[in-house]
Amino acid sequence: MISIRPIAPKDKHEWWKLWCDPDESYLQTTGSLASVSPSTTETTFSRFLDPRVPLYAAVAQDSNGNLIGFATYLTHLGTKLTQENMYLGDLYVSPSNRQKGAGRKLLEFVFSEADRLNCPGCFWTTDKDNQTAQRLYNKVGVQADFVLYRRA
Ligand SMILES: CC(C)(COP(=O)(O)OP(=O)(O)OC[C@H]1O[C@@H](n2cnc3c(N)ncnc32)[C@H](O)[C@@H]1OP(=O)(O)O)[C@@H](O)C(=O)NCCC(=O)NCCS
Repeated sequence: MISIRPIAPKDKHEWWKLWCDPDESYLQTTGSLASVSPSTTETTFSRFLDPRVPLYAAVAQDSNGNLIGFATYLTHLGTKLTQENMYLGDLYVSPSNRQKGAGRKLLEFVFSEADRLNCPGCFWTTDKDNQTAQRLYNKVGVQADFVLYRRA
């Protein structure tokens, strides 16, 4: 049975491995391992637990209590709403635990967090070639007609 809950201080070691293990992790899979330093990861983890910072993480655990995935999300102000919006930053399930519903459960948890935090919108991006993620996203969301730019 997979369950989802907010991240807690005791999760640091297991989350760290899921986040940036050199052999298999979110940063390794998404090609970002070299660009995120351990001190950044340390800061990111502490921000999840800081109630003053609107950066959050949820973890998926199996029936033995082992962490098998996570989602990170943040809220931010905008110009067209008085409420905040929610942005889903990262989503990861370890390879041996995929296609068992953890990814969908993590997303549903994030959507419930959007409701709890009074965010009318929740959006996210993915690599245009990430067909696996898009199979899941097409079931829980609608694709927007935007093109993402970054500073040159
Ligand atoms: C994307 C990812 C989070 C999906 O996690 P998951 O736990 O395997 O997803 P789920 O088991 O909840 O699958 C959800 C739905 O997508 C479909 N799906 C997921 N992976 C699939 C695959 N490889 N082939 C076919 N369908 C797939 C499932 O059939 C399922 O449909 P259902 O809920 O109607 O049964 C996972 O593959 C992953 O961590 N990938 C690497 C990191 C990544 O790319 N993250 C996204 C970055 S934007």
